[in-house]
Amino acid sequence: MVRVYRYDYIEYVRGMKFTVLTFGCQMNVHDSDWLIRAMESRGWTAVSESEADIFIINTCSVRDKPEQKVYSVLGRLAPLCKKAGSFVAVGGCVAQQIGEGFLEKFPHVRLVFGSDGIAQAPQALEELAKDHKKTLVLNDFVAAYPEREGGLAQPNQDLLPPGIGTIPGQAFVNIMQGCDNFCAYCIVPYTRGRQKSRSSEAVVNECKSLVKAGVREITLLGQNVNSFGIDKKGTDSSFAELLYKVSAIDGLERIRFTTSHPKDLAPEVIKAFGELPNLCPSLHLPVQSGSDNILKKMGRKYDRARYLGIVEGLRKVCPDIALTTDIIVGFPGETDEDFEQTMNMMELVRYESSFSFKYSDRPGVAAVKMQPKVPEDVAQSRLARLQERQKSITRESLEALTGREMIVLLERKSKRQEIGGVSWRGKDPGGRVINVHFAGLDEEQKLGGKLVKVKITEAKNHSLIGVKMGEIW
Ligand code: SAH
Ligand code: SF4
Ligand code: F3S
Repeated sequence: MVRVYRYDYIEYVRGMKFTVLTFGCQMNVHDSDWLIRAMESRGWTAVSESEADIFIINTCSVRDKPEQKVYSVLGRLAPLCKKAGSFVAVGGCVAQQIGEGFLEKFPHVRLVFGSDGIAQAPQALEELAKDHKKTLVLNDFVAAYPEREGGLAQPNQDLLPPGIGTIPGQAFVNIMQGCDNFCAYCIVPYTRGRQKSRSSEAVVNECKSLVKAGVREITLLGQNVNSFGIDKKGTDSSFAELLYKVSAIDGLERIRFTTSHPKDLAPEVIKAFGELPNLCPSLHLPVQSGSDNILKKMGRKYDRARYLGIVEGLRKVCPDIALTTDIIVGFPGETDEDFEQTMNMMELVRYESSFSFKYSDRPGVAAVKMQPKVPEDVAQSRLARLQERQKSITRESLEALTGREMIVLLERKSKRQEIGGVSWRGKDPGGRVINVHFAGLDEEQKLGGKLVKVKITEAKNHSLIGVKMGEIW
């Protein structure tokens, strides 16, 4: 039985110290940022794990490994929850999947909130901080996109422990929730529920207030942004129309979006890459496999030819576009020949980088029943070969950029520092990491969110080095 939480009074429990541990995709990172802001606006304080009384884990279930990680973190937190009033809240995709089971197995877990339940999590956390005997499960899916209260402003970077909160000058804006695609390997449609688009008006208004607050780069987020609005059956904007509306916001310097499903990438979106000056020349376009046979079994609804046609169209209107992808190796039934097709796809597209994974059985998905399963050692050696090849393609494409001039949006100080100044890292419009050394810069000076023109002088394995060419603005 799922207990549905309803709150009928609010009494602030101020001053609680909490921490949020985040796993999974950008959507989880964004949800965690929102939750931090929502709790801070209630007078709670975000701290590091060692100082926290309340631990919030935002979980990912996309493969077995991140799911197992949740159980090991829960084990680690058990002794820390011995003090009165301390507890763990489990949110996100594993929370949606396991639900009440967490309360049964782990007495230090007192709140479970799934994908749609997050909107009510702040009130629930307050309630549990007051009533130490209570437990709650917020796992019901709702019919429309659950708009969340307030929390628009960026978290105050100065007050948050390192690593928590969004990057200065950048913001993520959710445009939808859930996914209707049911790719044969994927648990997301079960953990995030049916696709629910936000209204384009709510998205544009949120973007406008972010730009007003000083944000220069916005990333529109969703599991499958290209199908934005399809659930509204033409009563609201399409994704391409939304892009044009957001692009027109005065003062917005950069727009990105993620993730795209190739089957829904409309010609109008391709066209936008050639027309919208602030749409960044970068696209994450998960291919998953280069074999038509495997793509069919995965239920991806495109084939190699269609995918390559999209790539050709994109490069025609935007020759410098940086393409990245996700690849699964060892999907049930994948033969050596199928895998060679994936390797061939990498040669044809030459992705600047890719996330690649061994297929992992997930509870309830269609591929669980598909046979034959690829032996672990075969999948492992395919993965290693693919990643090795990607490493050299990445290196070659980064090397080809030396000598070019780029505008970098600075994020934070680089890990590696040299004497006589400070190095900062940021991203170019293609989304590549660029480290820039500022000679004579004061250690204390904050450049996060600033733009600077640089000339690329050197390529590393995964990043570039640039020298400053002019003013910082
Ligand atoms: N909505 C996005 C991606 C969601 S999950 C999209 O459609 O592209 C992120 C990535 O995890 C997927 O692109 C896929 O490559 C990988 N993935 C998902 N389920 C997986 C599984 N069962 N085993 C291995 N990798 C998986
Ligand atoms: Fe998963 Fe496919 Fe939906 Fe992406 S499009 S979230 S891979 S079901
Ligand atoms: Fe993971 Fe859920 Fe995102 S399964 S990848 S956190 S949608």
